[in-house]
Amino acid sequence: MTTTTALIEPVTLAGLSLTSPFVMAPMTREHSPGGVPTSEVAAYYRRRAANGVGLIITEGVLVDHPSAGHQRDVPRLTEGAAEAGWRHVTAEVHAAGGRIAAQLWHLGSLFEGDAWTPRTMSGGDFDALSRAYAEAARVAVRAGFDAIEVHAAHGYLLDEFLWPVTNPGGHHRDFPAQVVRAVRAAIPACMPLIVRFSQFKERDYSARIAETPHELGTILEGFRAAGADVLHASQRRFWEPVFDGSDRNLAGWAKHLTGLPSITVGAIGLTRDFARSDRMRELLDRRARGEYDLMALGRVLLGNPAWVKLAEAGRLDEINDYRKEDEEQYS
Ligand SMILES: Cc1cc2nc3c(=O)[nH]c(=O)nc-3n(C[C@H](O)[C@H](O)[C@H](O)COP(=O)(O)O)c2cc1C
Repeated sequence: MTTTTALIEPVTLAGLSLTSPFVMAPMTREHSPGGVPTSEVAAYYRRRAANGVGLIITEGVLVDHPSAGHQRDVPRLTEGAAEAGWRHVTAEVHAAGGRIAAQLWHLGSLFEGDAWTPRTMSGGDFDALSRAYAEAARVAVRAGFDAIEVHAAHGYLLDEFLWPVTNPGGHHRDFPAQVVRAVRAAIPACMPLIVRFSQFKERDYSARIAETPHELGTILEGFRAAGADVLHASQRRFWEPVFDGSDRNLAGWAKHLTGLPSITVGAIGLTRDFARSDRMRELLDRRARGEYDLMALGRVLLGNPAWVKLAEAGRLDEINDYRKEDEEQYS
C-alpha cells in the first residue's frame, strides 16, 4: 500500500455520526479509585479520540449489583461521584471530536455467602440483575455517553448463559437478550445499543457458543429483537473464518445473519509493519466489500494512542511494537 491511505473518514453507525471507522476496543483498567474515574482516565480516552479513533468503547464498567465484581479500582456507573467522573470523561472525548460508549460489565457467577461457592440464579436474581444493567445505562445517559455496549462475551455473566459448557441445559438462555431489552427501555430510542459477543472464552480459546451459522443466527436474532442495533463480534484474529465453507469472519457472519452493522476486532496493528502489510489491505478490503462496518483496535492503542493517524500518514517508524509487559504503563 502507499504511504498515505485514507483511513480517517466520516461514517454513521446506527444514526450516530463518527469521524472515523476506527474504534477503541474495551480494555479493563484499574485506574478509578473506589470506582470513580479520574481526570487521568479522561485524558487517556481524549488522547485516542484526538488521534483518529471515531468511537471509544470504555473499559468494562461494573453494573451496580453486589455480585458484579469486587475490584476496588475498576470503574462503576452509579449516581454521585462515579457519574460526575464519567461526565468529565465524556466531555473531554467530545471536545476532541470523538464519541464514547460505556461497556456494561458483570464478571459472572453469583456466590453463596463468604464461601465463594457459585449458586444457581433464581427468578429474583434475573430481575435484579436486569434492573442493575438498566440503571447503569440510565446513569450513562445522564453522564453524556453516546452509546451503550452490553458485554456478553468472553465467558462473563451473560456469556455463561450462551455457552453450553456453563449452561448445559440451556436454561434461561434468553437472559442476555432480556438484559438487552431492559437496557433498550432505559435509554433514548435513538441511542445506539451495541452487544459484544464472542465464540472464545478467556479460559478457553477454542470454546464456541454456536457450531453452525443457524445456531449463531438464533442467538444474534434474539439480541436484534431485544433492541440491539450494532453487533461487536470479538475475535482474537480478524482474518480467521468461523464456519467451514466461508472465509467470512465473526463480524461478517453477524452482519450477514441479522442485517445489523457490525464491528470487527482482533490483532490489528500489533507490529510496526502491520500498517503496510497485506493484512492491513485485507482489513480494509473486507470492510470495503461490506463484510463489517467498523474496526476496533485494542492493544495497539495502549502504546500507540495515535496509531490511526500515524498509519494513515505512513509514519511507521513512530509506531511501537506491542509489548505485553508494558500494559500497565500506558496513559
Ligand atoms: C488489557 C486488556 C483488557 C481487556 N479488557 C476487556 C474488557 O474490559 N471488555 C472486553 O469486552 N474486552 C476486553 N479485552 C479484549 C479487547 O477488547 C480486544 O477484544 C482484544 O484485546 C483483541 O483486540 P487486539 O488484538 O486489538 O488487542 C481486553 C484486552 C486486553 C489486552
